[in-house]
Amino acid sequence: MAELRLGLIGCGGIGEVHAGCVAKIPQGEFIAYCDIDEAVAKRALDKFGGEYATTEADKLFADDRLDAIYIATHHDSHAPLVIAAAKAAKHIFIEKPLALTIAECEAVAEAVATAGVYLMPAFKMRYYPLIRMAHEFIPAPQVLVGQMMDRRWADDAWFQDPVKGGANVHSQGCHTTDILRYLAGSEPVRIWAAGGTLTHPDHPCIDQCVASIEFANGHVASWIQGDVALPQLVSKFYFELFGDGKSVQLHDRLKRATFFDGEKTWTEHRDAEEGFQLENVEFLTALAAGREPQLTVHDGIQATRIVLAAERAIKTGQVQEL
Ligand SMILES: NC(=O)c1ccc[n+]([C@@H]2O[C@H](COP(=O)([O-])OP(=O)(O)OC[C@H]3O[C@@H](n4cnc5c(N)ncnc54)[C@H](O)[C@@H]3O)[C@@H](O)[C@H]2O)c1
Repeated sequence: MAELRLGLIGCGGIGEVHAGCVAKIPQGEFIAYCDIDEAVAKRALDKFGGEYATTEADKLFADDRLDAIYIATHHDSHAPLVIAAAKAAKHIFIEKPLALTIAECEAVAEAVATAGVYLMPAFKMRYYPLIRMAHEFIPAPQVLVGQMMDRRWADDAWFQDPVKGGANVHSQGCHTTDILRYLAGSEPVRIWAAGGTLTHPDHPCIDQCVASIEFANGHVASWIQGDVALPQLVSKFYFELFGDGKSVQLHDRLKRATFFDGEKTWTEHRDAEEGFQLENVEFLTALAAGREPQLTVHDGIQATRIVLAAERAIKTGQVQEL
């Protein structure tokens, strides 16, 4: 039996991805699966093994054997489930975004601090080796570019739902803003953005965003987020760092990076995307060692704070202080 016993709430697409990752990590094992759709919870139990499947999250919170809870549900349930898990003294791995509003983010932070549990937001991109290599190569870039441009999202997808998902900028923007903040090595202080509802007319949510972010160290980033069309040359995920005569471009879904040191150019390549597996390794090895995971509730809050400020800037036309 593994040292850490785990429960999964939300056993859909990404819940199953995490269960598959955990199955390869010796420190942890899922014994409990919860989904509001009973068949989905049972499917996960059958596929990954464990002890029970349920539609009642409270059953997991009341299970004293569980050390940590994974939450991979739709966005409107993130904050209430995290708060309930913290009150039950469980460590938490939460899919992005941490929560939908700053008030919810702060309630989550308070619950986690009061309970003294660890929370890791699931920003898988932090664990792509080439992102880390780029950060080490240019630790304080003067100028950054971060772009996540997807194919147009289906109108009936849950992530387009204004309550459950919030559309592209709200749903996925936090991945990009978290990486920009990480690569900048500095906290954001100011943002201006243009955009709006450009791919889903008459929808209440903002789906495209083009923003300029200023960081506390005076350095700047350009951020593009949306679902107009997949860029075939650079792929859905694209980041650029420029610092002191050096540059890096991360492309091919962050599996390829082109480095320039002012004289030489070379390319690093990874065969596969390793973010999901390595973020799970980090969470479980940290818990097993009794230390806080590298990513904390603060990272989750900051990523959402930038997204929300961009949305305010788009709506008001005004620069937003962060
Ligand atoms: N990190 C990434 O790259 C990445 C990629 C896709 C999705 N996600 C995130 O993962 C989460 C889940 O997305 P998905 O694509 O797996 O969605 P999904 O619809 O495939 O699965 C979500 C599951 O949660 C269940 N659910 C909803 N509310 C619940 C509740 N209150 N209690 C228990 N179960 C509940 C649903 O029945 C469903 O089975 C979202 O936060 C999403 O943003 C992350």
